[in-house]
Amino acid sequence: METLLSFDKVYKDYPSGPSIIHALKETNFEAKKGELIAIVGPSGSGKSTLLSLAGALLTPTGGTISINGKSVGNLSSKEQTALRLEEIGFIFQAAHLVPYLHVKDQISFIGKMAGKSAAELEKDTASLLSQLGISDRANFYPKDLSGGQKQRVAIARALINQPSVILADEPTASLDTERSREVVELIRNEVVKTSRTAIMVTHDERMLDLVDHVYRMEDGILTQES
Ligand SMILES: Nc1ncnc2c1ncn2[C@@H]1O[C@H](COP(=O)(O)OP(=O)(O)O)[C@@H](O)[C@H]1O
Ligand SMILES: [Mg+2]
Repeated sequence: METLLSFDKVYKDYPSGPSIIHALKETNFEAKKGELIAIVGPSGSGKSTLLSLAGALLTPTGGTISINGKSVGNLSSKEQTALRLEEIGFIFQAAHLVPYLHVKDQISFIGKMAGKSAAELEKDTASLLSQLGISDRANFYPKDLSGGQKQRVAIARALINQPSVILADEPTASLDTERSREVVELIRNEVVKTSRTAIMVTHDERMLDLVDHVYRMEDGILTQES
């Protein structure tokens, strides 16, 4: 199967006063088309650092990250911005919705930045809202949504540009078990149906039966468990 994301000897250090934090130690890692991967591990172990590197939000201290066959380090900053917008969908722990935008505009805004036409956006936004079961919330503001609904809007927003790599940092942290499973199942369906890849950081071991591979992060060291 085709590799969508790869880390070749990637590591990340943060300066911390006179010392250095080795947040991610030298890591080789691959995510293929159609795979949903979970990363578990304690707080402070480097999970968010890995995800930010994978999404080209952070630059590695060393090593090579490739997304869809392109080495991120070889791209100009303009090309990196385009890559983030077109190839990567982020879902964060808190939905991070814009308070003054209606649900449908939260989603179409991201598509507009990627240069999609208004007609295309209207159609794609409506179709995502319907898939996620929140069509009836299209004209609501975030404050009038439940936690689960907000997270579904965040998922729709992450998917509007049909990214090949979906990155989710504790997407179910604010949800109960039933809603959490729904959210993970939605991500999983999307990945399988359209052959993308998704990497999900989670504290919730009850979701692990839904994923293809589990990795554990401990003190900046990533180990494959299944
Ligand atoms: N911007 C930063 N500057 C300095 N240290 C950081 C920064 N971001 C994270 N760290 C440190 O790197 C380590 C890994 O953090 P993080 O990737 O956020 O872990 P996790 O997501 O597993 O909780 C922690 O020791 C954290 O304090
Ligand atoms: Mg984190």
